[in-house]
Amino acid sequence: MSVPAATRKRIDSLRDQIRHHNYQYHVLDEPDVPDAEYDRLVRDLQKLETEHPQLITPDSPTQRVGAEPIKAFGTVEHQIPMLSLDNAFSEDELRDFHRRVTDRLDIDINAKLRYAAEPKLDGAAVSLRYEGGELVKGATRGDGTTGEDITHNVRTITAVPLKLLGKGFPDTLEVRGEVFMPRAGFKAFNEQALKNDEKTFVNPRNAAAGSLRQLDPRLTAARPLDIYIYSVGQVIGGELPACHSEILQQLQEWGLKVCPEIKVVTGIDGCMAYYQDIGSRRDALAYDIDGVVYKVDRLDYQRELGFVSRAPRWAIAHKFPAEEELTLVRDIEFQVGRTGAITPVARLEPVFVGGVTVSNATLHNMDELHRKDVRVGDTVIVRRAGDVIPEVVKVVPGKRPAKTKIIKAPTKCPVCGSAVARAEDEAVTRCTGGLFCSAQRSEALKHFVSRRALDVDGLGAKLIEQLVAMDRIKTPADLFGLKKDELVEMERMGEKSAENLLASIETSKNTTLSRFLYALGIREVGEATASSLAVHYGKLKGIMEADEEALQQVDDVGPVVASRIQTFFAEKHNQEVIRRLIDSGLTWAETEPRHAPADGLLSGKTFVLTGTLSKMTRDEAKDKIQAAGGKVTGSVSKKTDFVVYGDNAGSKLTKAQNLNITTLNEVELEKILTDQ
Ligand code: IVH
Repeated sequence: MSVPAATRKRIDSLRDQIRHHNYQYHVLDEPDVPDAEYDRLVRDLQKLETEHPQLITPDSPTQRVGAEPIKAFGTVEHQIPMLSLDNAFSEDELRDFHRRVTDRLDIDINAKLRYAAEPKLDGAAVSLRYEGGELVKGATRGDGTTGEDITHNVRTITAVPLKLLGKGFPDTLEVRGEVFMPRAGFKAFNEQALKNDEKTFVNPRNAAAGSLRQLDPRLTAARPLDIYIYSVGQVIGGELPACHSEILQQLQEWGLKVCPEIKVVTGIDGCMAYYQDIGSRRDALAYDIDGVVYKVDRLDYQRELGFVSRAPRWAIAHKFPAEEELTLVRDIEFQVGRTGAITPVARLEPVFVGGVTVSNATLHNMDELHRKDVRVGDTVIVRRAGDVIPEVVKVVPGKRPAKTKIIKAPTKCPVCGSAVARAEDEAVTRCTGGLFCSAQRSEALKHFVSRRALDVDGLGAKLIEQLVAMDRIKTPADLFGLKKDELVEMERMGEKSAENLLASIETSKNTTLSRFLYALGIREVGEATASSLAVHYGKLKGIMEADEEALQQVDDVGPVVASRIQTFFAEKHNQEVIRRLIDSGLTWAETEPRHAPADGLLSGKTFVLTGTLSKMTRDEAKDKIQAAGGKVTGSVSKKTDFVVYGDNAGSKLTKAQNLNITTLNEVELEKILTDQ
């Protein structure tokens, strides 16, 4: 059956348009049409292809996912070996590398030698072969000489073009790059896998490598994989530019995705500045990296330098301190938090990881502990990335000593012996002892005096624990009865520090309703909610008397929070503590209830702060935002309007970027605080 020329033309045009939009979206990260328009084009093409199946070609954008799993992986001989890189673990080692390079090239060590500096991506290396502009082969690195044929799987990665764009590309163009799973996708994937009781991945690198080694491409297609191309392999019938950086630029113009962080730098100083810069932004990147790679930019120099065994002399990987290390579990203990949550914690043989020495790592909750089956004596992988608390990633099974015991969930609170309970919809087990439990009491007190609550200076954790252990302090109200002569008796307390502490306790009596509410430590009532309650009601009495329905009128307060607040104030014991606190002289200015939203510059806007700010502390930024009517919360969600970031910003910034939330640096924040 013949197909009208107009239909063929329409099909070609649809494919070109879809390829162009794919490029804008996946490679350049600059979509130029709304999703709905893109979906329409794909549907139109699918419809025409269904009507005229003889016109389907393998490079059609509809043909990413093959219908059938393959039986086994074929092998691919790499025409040019896929090499590895030498590592430098310090600036000195980097300087040695630079000296070797300049010596061999016989140029001055201080000459302005240009290096292409790139993030060292933590994924799986692949080779992609294009013939006549069409993707014909995808392969793993394997042993460098022979890899596995994973064409069916790389085709499913939307950032891999099935056909090159533009013109002038060589007849055969083999490119190499790293397939990786961005952190957000990794997290979502693991969360889903946990829900479905399926295997989770230890880290994004394993997730990427594992996803590429699927026999069924439909499984790979469901994984959120991405790619950055970082070099070329075999080139036949065509010319490429004379510098590595220009080649990458050219590859991008042909539709291949290149990391936007790549930069040309000069000399060791340029390399070090790049290393520091990427290092400081590492946690904010959307993907894992484990260092940076410097490559001599000029290809004639690269040729002159050549290779030694399996690595080029013209490139080096400058590694960041490892974020994962092996260590031994000495003990597993259970900690009781302010709200009674019982958290298993691994006590570890101290190990240097992520730039600090770690001797404790959280195991989150009993489910996690049992899923990972961590036991005393085990060798484990510990991970500490950025500012997150160190965690045990997994046990190394081969290293388990004989006669270890499965850790049992505590049936009683390890601190006070009260019964433990677990709510049906929660992963945490809690001690039911409330303020009878000295751990909960200590934690409640630490919270009560903390900087954003009553802000009592000089009352550290150790002192609180002592006072609680002696039963001298049972509730926050007891704090205001402390006398100098009993304080000087305490460990490491002199006359002067006792006086300072008492003065600080005295000062803290002058507070605000919002701080006071936060200090009470009602579950689910963080600073933002405390502040909303204070603004809405103006007076403590109003809040204490409000029923759940009324409480839900307050910004941010849903049924769960409303019930927590109501239950807290209905409790006789809590009413008594509050009465005693007020009798001790605790005061704040009460205002008239304001049931309408505040009308500051930023009212109705929700902010999240992350990283270290340089001109003000995070607390100062928070105060300024709140003073302008804005709200500051701790975690990024779809409801967040702005994320303010400083140096070493963490995963919150990444999340904001993924959710397309406006991000502000300090200068921009100051601008909207004054300009709006
Ligand atoms: S270049 C001859 N560039 O690191 C040059 N490799 O240890 C070979 N890698 O197998 C590779 N990011 O998987 C290069 N920007 C980058 C890289 C990179 C990650 C991986 C790659 C390679 C391994 C070498």
